Amino acid sequence: MDFKKCFVLFFLLTILPWMKISAQTWIVPDEAKTKVSPFIFTKETAEKGQSIYQKNCQSCHGIPRQNNPAKIIPDPGDPAAKKYQSQKDGEMFWKVTSGKTPMPQFQNILSEEERWNVISFVRSFNPEYIQPQPETRAGFSGKIIKLSINYIPDLKKIKVIAMEVTKDKKLIPSQGDKIILSVKRYFGEMQFGDPKITNQSGFALFEAPVDLTGDKEGKIELTARVDDPTGKVGDALAAAILAIGKPNTAPSLIASRAWWSTRKMAPVWVIATFSFAVIIVWGFIFYILLSLRKIRRIDL
Ligand code: HEC
Repeated sequence: MDFKKCFVLFFLLTILPWMKISAQTWIVPDEAKTKVSPFIFTKETAEKGQSIYQKNCQSCHGIPRQNNPAKIIPDPGDPAAKKYQSQKDGEMFWKVTSGKTPMPQFQNILSEEERWNVISFVRSFNPEYIQPQPETRAGFSGKIIKLSINYIPDLKKIKVIAMEVTKDKKLIPSQGDKIILSVKRYFGEMQFGDPKITNQSGFALFEAPVDLTGDKEGKIELTARVDDPTGKVGDALAAAILAIGKPNTAPSLIASRAWWSTRKMAPVWVIATFSFAVIIVWGFIFYILLSLRKIRRIDL
């Protein structure tokens, strides 16, 4: 055996098994293991997680508890199984966030909240699971604010209430926060009016966007958030759907027969031409098959 072959053999015998072992271990950094969900897992969070799971995970991991993951290598495993459930929330979160071939990285596909919702769903299959105490932004020492949106019909005003969550988890009115109110439109959000500063009761009053057109029932989706470029206030966001706008009475764009409409509402001539073309094509195929049969018969 010459030197070259020896070298190749050495490589195969030593390096490759080592590479395989390193490919099997999925090392989670220690600081990631202790991360916990920022919210309590409830039936609602599990339900949200279920629909995210069905769209993003089920094709590989199968339906939890049915042990029907995709037949790929390495085995994705059933999320209800012990191997999967015995890890900490932080480990699961890290694995979903960073992925590992063939599992995709979900960092930019799912928001943090969506990833925690999926974990909430997966945990709902484990009767022994006890959720660790949620942490509001680990290591964050700034002000934590909870926002809510209310409508005052008499004044035709929107009241945004900002409450500060204190260290001992009490709620006190938060004064002096700059609140931005936005309305959801077809393409993103539109800021409504000027930002307002909360008063000593934590209130900020906005004129209601009553002349905006909403959906069929005049429903408008509003979001309120704290404008804080300094980062001293945690992410605070509230959303509400209020029936305060004008009902949208314009007929739907796909209500009548049109080119851009659904298949059922396509123009009659389009359907007729299409059907005719399909019949002609199939006719040709049958004609060719019949002709082929004739060729064989003569041959025999
Ligand atoms: C393309 C297929 C695929 C998709 C989609 C996928 N996974 Fe995975 N997942 C895998 C594979 C394969 C593994 C095993 C990787 C390994 O062990 O090296 C895995 C492992 C995991 C693990 C670690 C399990 C353990 O025992 O340590 C978690 C947690 C996980 N997936 C969660 C999810 C979640 C949640 C989603 C959806 C948001 C998802 N996966 C989507 C293929 C996939």
